Amino acid sequence: TFVVTENCIRCKYTDCVDVCPTDCFHEGPNFLVINPETCIDCSLCVAECPADAIFDEKDLPVDQRHFIQLNADLSQIWPVIDSTSNPMPEAEQWVDQPDKLQFLER
Ligand code: SF4
Ligand code: F3S
Repeated sequence: TFVVTENCIRCKYTDCVDVCPTDCFHEGPNFLVINPETCIDCSLCVAECPADAIFDEKDLPVDQRHFIQLNADLSQIWPVIDSTSNPMPEAEQWVDQPDKLQFLER
């Protein structure tokens, strides 16, 4: 399973969405998550993300392990997004900023 991690928060570029063959992405106010039940491990989304926020679960940095559960939980609540749209207006300012989990809106 692939996992969206912290660097997506407040950026939400959405380039990842169009390439996903199984519509795995679910959208919240300022973050996307991958539904682990629909992800087929194709890895196509990884290279699309300008924030390098998507990882194979097996390659997750240790400080991002908690995003496995967060993707699983929020994908049960948030609606599917099936096409790319505009990034967050301040994406360029927020990309690569540390400690963005505190800004996650649900
Ligand atoms: Fe979709 Fe493939 Fe990314 Fe899984 S790895 S979320 S199936 S594009
Ligand atoms: Fe987020 Fe990257 Fe997709 S910033 S919305 S995981 S392209």
